[in-house]
Amino acid sequence: MANSQRLDRLRAVLNAENYEVAALVPGSNFRYLTDSIHFLMERPLVLFVPKQGRPALVIPHLETELFTSHGFDTELFPWVDGQGYAGAFSAAAQYLHLDGKTVAVEGQLMRFFEVEAIRRAASDVQVIDGHHALSSIRLRKDAQEIASLRRAIQISETALARTLEQVKVGMTERQVLNLLVGTMQELGGEGLSFEPIVLAGDNSSRPHGKVRNDYAIREGDPLLFDFGCTVGGYHADITRTVFVGAPSDEHRAIYAAVLAANERGRKTARPGIAGRDVDAQTAQVLRDAGYSDLIAHRTGHGLGLDIHEAPYISPDSATLLEPGMVFTIEPGLYRAGSVGIRIEDNVVVTEDGCESLSTFSRDLLVIG
Ligand code: GLY
Ligand code: MN
Repeated sequence: MANSQRLDRLRAVLNAENYEVAALVPGSNFRYLTDSIHFLMERPLVLFVPKQGRPALVIPHLETELFTSHGFDTELFPWVDGQGYAGAFSAAAQYLHLDGKTVAVEGQLMRFFEVEAIRRAASDVQVIDGHHALSSIRLRKDAQEIASLRRAIQISETALARTLEQVKVGMTERQVLNLLVGTMQELGGEGLSFEPIVLAGDNSSRPHGKVRNDYAIREGDPLLFDFGCTVGGYHADITRTVFVGAPSDEHRAIYAAVLAANERGRKTARPGIAGRDVDAQTAQVLRDAGYSDLIAHRTGHGLGLDIHEAPYISPDSATLLEPGMVFTIEPGLYRAGSVGIRIEDNVVVTEDGCESLSTFSRDLLVIG
């Protein structure tokens, strides 16, 4: 059953931001409010939530029963294939008295044709990007959300441990990835957070590199895993970098710097500190170790129903951390064409600091 407190929270955002109506498309905010999961496909499906009064949903007819099974109270405006959706949008706009109103949309999600459908359905309607404010309803995770994250992380970490026991020189990145994915599925992972990143040797220097089918792992290679499974829609996102055979002195030194930065990030995160300050202190450890040139990305990102969401732990994030916020701490160093090392944890802010939900050893590990 949909959670009415979540709807109240969205209405509080509408009031605070002076938006008259929110218009949501299928995605994490939509799911969070209604419990209903739909594809973002070519058929438009838009939930309008006014400041006061009943929400209105324009929905393809074939999705109606799926939606109503979750009990979210809304006026329905279904449309059928072949008839087009303009009439459903017009009827919803009349129901909501949309003429002249300001409609806030998720600018990172809503597409041009959906915006056009809203604009055509009412006169003088102003469509604005409210992505950040609308998504803020999901910033603080409740106990049930944290439990799903813990389970997703636990499955992911157990799968990593079992995979590492089997990795040998000569295996390909693809073979290692298949082992990892199969083990997460066996252990009860419901889906993949994303196509896992398993990168050996020089490929590890690409922060979001692609797995190779034909590269056989060599003695001394760094092997970077960035991966996770989902449970109840909540994403684990863990990175560990191990070595297959003894690492070089340079690789050991880079590893030590990344580990120290990861530790600083986890020690720094607490209620009241801004995301950018956690990022600055974490990055400073990497710079102090002499690796400014090898920094390629921010320290972290929020984690939940989306794999990347607020709060961001980045130089431009003024968000003040609050208990219940969940995000990654994932400093990394990358020497192009040579080596990449990243250590990523998933943490939740507590009353007086933060707890790492991921607990897989961060010690330099030599396997194979
Ligand atoms: N994996 C680093 C980032 O996307 O921020
Ligand atoms: Mn991440």
